[in-house]
Amino acid sequence: MADHPERDEITGRYTTGHEWDGIKELNTPLPKWWVWVFYATIIWSVIYSVIYPSWPAMAGYFNGVIGWNARSALQDDLAEAREARSSWLTEIAARDVPAILEDDTLRTYAMRGGEVLFKENCAPCHQTGGAGAHGYPTLADDEWLWGGTPEDILTTIRHGIRDQDNPNTRVNFMPEFGDDWFTDEEIEAVASYVYALSNGETLDGPGQVLFSQQCVSCHGPDGGGVSLLGGPPLNNRIFLYGGSQEEIAAQVRQPTHGVMPPWENRLSDEEIKQLAVYVHSLGGGQ
Ligand code: HEC
Ligand code: HEC
Repeated sequence: MADHPERDEITGRYTTGHEWDGIKELNTPLPKWWVWVFYATIIWSVIYSVIYPSWPAMAGYFNGVIGWNARSALQDDLAEAREARSSWLTEIAARDVPAILEDDTLRTYAMRGGEVLFKENCAPCHQTGGAGAHGYPTLADDEWLWGGTPEDILTTIRHGIRDQDNPNTRVNFMPEFGDDWFTDEEIEAVASYVYALSNGETLDGPGQVLFSQQCVSCHGPDGGGVSLLGGPPLNNRIFLYGGSQEEIAAQVRQPTHGVMPPWENRLSDEEIKQLAVYVHSLGGGQ
């Protein structure tokens, strides 16, 4: 080992003076920028620990000179969010659904809220996005049992359908034609008429006569539906209870009556309006 560090011939730098099996180490200083950044972080950490809560103490901790704390910051954020929300809700409370639909910002807000509410309360029956299932109508198309205007939808959600306890609920019961009224042949005839109708054809014969006598009051003269009475259109392939001739005959013989719960006592009026906006915007609002 040399007393003085020697100079490396190739780089011109001094070595550290160490040598291992003939390999020597160059004494390369740290880059200046790196050293300055290092000092800067030390200074920053000192300043930070004085301003913000930092050092643990016997009881509690040093609070920092500005007295910031994460809990009160969260409280402030929450209060701010609550206030922003309540101003939206006041706006929604003050308007009817068509007016909300016309205001872009309000509609966007109502759509978000409505989507969440729908997932929680309605999707178990109507499926996500109102896709529907057997016995549970699709809300994302433009076929409506009880009408698809904002007011219609609002009324349906508020009061439900065939709910025993809600005085304003929507009611209309299709008669049981199989009960001492139609013979089996008549049921078959009317069912084949409706089946043909649903495929865009018109069958002449006894089925047509029975239909025009017994069914048009609720399903419309051409089977186009009567939404005031919840009588669904029968002239297309959209069926709540199945569209085969047997399923149609079963509905005529002994009808199923769909029941939907009312929401006026479970959700606030603002929430129901948001749901109406959401359902109306799903695709088929009128
Ligand atoms: C327990 C099941 C169930 C739940 C939960 C439910 N619905 Fe329904 N809903 C039904 C049924 C069944 C019908 C069809 C009733 C009929 O046959 O007339 C219906 C019909 C409707 C209609 C009328 C559709 C039309 O074509 O006119 C709307 C609108 C509606 N529901 C919206 C909602 C909303 C919004 C929610 C959530 C707040 C909801 N429903 C929750 C079962 C349900
Ligand atoms: C007093 C009114 C009324 C009369 C009359 C009536 N219906 Fe209905 N019908 C309804 C209602 C309401 C529904 C929907 C039931 C529901 O939503 O749960 C319905 C549903 C149906 C369905 C099932 C539709 C679907 O989407 O699955 C068929 C099929 C049907 N009716 C055929 C007939 C035929 C055929 C006649 C005549 C023989 C008839 N209806 C007479 C009120 C009536």
